[in-house]
Amino acid sequence: MRKKIVAGNWKMNKTFQEADDLLFEIKEMLNKQNPEDVQVIVCPPTLYLELANDISFESNFFVGAQNVNDNESGAYTGEISAPMLKSMDIEYCIIGHSERRKHFGETNQMLKDKVKKALENEIIPIFCCGELLPERQAENHFNIVEKQLVESLFSLDDYDFSKVIIAYEPIWAIGTGVTASPQQAQEMHEHIRKLIAGKYGKEIADETTILYGGSCNAKNAKDLFENPDVDGGLIGGASLKAVDFIKIANSF
Ligand code: PGA
Repeated sequence: MRKKIVAGNWKMNKTFQEADDLLFEIKEMLNKQNPEDVQVIVCPPTLYLELANDISFESNFFVGAQNVNDNESGAYTGEISAPMLKSMDIEYCIIGHSERRKHFGETNQMLKDKVKKALENEIIPIFCCGELLPERQAENHFNIVEKQLVESLFSLDDYDFSKVIIAYEPIWAIGTGVTASPQQAQEMHEHIRKLIAGKYGKEIADETTILYGGSCNAKNAKDLFENPDVDGGLIGGASLKAVDFIKIANSF
């Protein structure tokens, strides 16, 4: 059975002390009410990965990075490589978040290289895809997501692909307070699973975890996660409060 996952994307938030406090609260809450059969992942800013990892050893959450460079090492000032993440026992990495695509010009081709580099270093990519509002309004959302998957993921072999987690994040829903309806989420997740089945076969498609992201919160998580093809969430704003984040993780 495929994994249910709730991952928190802290983005560029929290000072060191705030991060320490939030991680401590997450640890305490998870130790009290650990959601059954749900994997919880925390993706803090790079600077706090070691701290998060240390605290995770006393709890039930995993740690992920928010980005990785597609080169092995070298003259890339300010960047973090997959071997560096691996050397710190980081097991997950968000790749292709729409904010990286928008503000840092990341293209499907670049993301393909990042996914490859992560997998070579035994890091599981949480690969983000999703359409802009005008693309949805033009009813082009299914094609846009298909193109993102085909160009960044579908050249992987079966073995590598089966490790990838996908996060569908309609860009119009990210940080806006406007969530995709459970029906809109299910429709796209079903579409994604069909595309995977077409490329890799039904067995791999059925095992692929597909998360929803975009204004998912403690109130609407249950309705979203109830859908057969929604296997959890990638949570931004609501992951910055331990109570809300843990509530979401307990929403299945
Ligand atoms: P949000 O962000 O939950 O704040 O909308 C989700 C994300 O960007 O991953």
